[in-house]
Amino acid sequence: MNKKIAVIGAGNVGATCAMYLAEANFADVVLVDIIEGTPQGKGLDLTQAGPVRGYNAMVKGTNKFSDIKGADIVIMTAGLPRKPGMSREDLVSMNADIVGSVAKNIKKYAPKSFVIVVSNPLDLMTFHMQKVTGFPKNRVLGQAGVLDSIRFRAFISMELGVAMTDTQAMVLGGHGDTMVPIPRYTTVAGVPIGELIPKDRINAIADRTRAGGGEIVKLLKTGSAYYAPAAASVDMCRAIFNDEKKVLPASAFLSGEYGIKDIYIGVPVILGAKGVEKILELKLSKGELSALQGSAKTYKLHLKDLGY
Ligand code: LAC
Repeated sequence: MNKKIAVIGAGNVGATCAMYLAEANFADVVLVDIIEGTPQGKGLDLTQAGPVRGYNAMVKGTNKFSDIKGADIVIMTAGLPRKPGMSREDLVSMNADIVGSVAKNIKKYAPKSFVIVVSNPLDLMTFHMQKVTGFPKNRVLGQAGVLDSIRFRAFISMELGVAMTDTQAMVLGGHGDTMVPIPRYTTVAGVPIGELIPKDRINAIADRTRAGGGEIVKLLKTGSAYYAPAAASVDMCRAIFNDEKKVLPASAFLSGEYGIKDIYIGVPVILGAKGVEKILELKLSKGELSALQGSAKTYKLHLKDLGY
């Protein structure tokens, strides 16, 4: 294949990204991890599934960063996941060092790549990635809004017994307790959910979405979610590769949009061959806007923990 995607981290999120990418069959995959044998074993295993899963993508596992050379997209998943009782922000200091050192390698070996950050705390790690690589801001973005929105969509589908694919949802703000689900822009086949679901149920579903990652951490006990986070990341790769101009929420760098600047936070973007091609400014209500700005404020304070 003539396209290449590097996945950094061969843990649950990284390996599942590699699997979904192989199945999407649009690029070869390089799976990088510092643990000897793990990426190689998982890569070989995934490649051997190709004949019956119907893909030709090769998945190469490696411990060498130099193997990401020429990657069109890098998905950054390395870092520690949270344990029950932890917030994503509790991971700042542990994961900042990992993201910083990976960023230097991306800059060195894949200087033209797009970078999709999945490591937590998502919005802060995306900021850190952009700063250390120095890449243009349209080429560095965070995967979280898609994950939070598909969680919201799945819950709506479960509530109404309608097709998952008929649902659309918008979840803005940081990927944490301050995230901002927007029911007004959430629909089933174009019908606003306010016309289909009673208000108290919408509020309960929005709350469950906000706590969606934590719900899974509590169930798994030893780590966090990976199927939906990986699926969301692959969706973003597809949008970039196919120049889809797909409208989705992602952690993007704001320069005054929504009255917020110099921070990465979840907003609706148009994602295409140039990465974040545009940030869409929705007409938010006063309450929605202040929730989004409040979320940004929290992360601005956390930037200090990163030394910015
Ligand atoms: C989640 C983690 C991966 O939301 O951030 O599941």
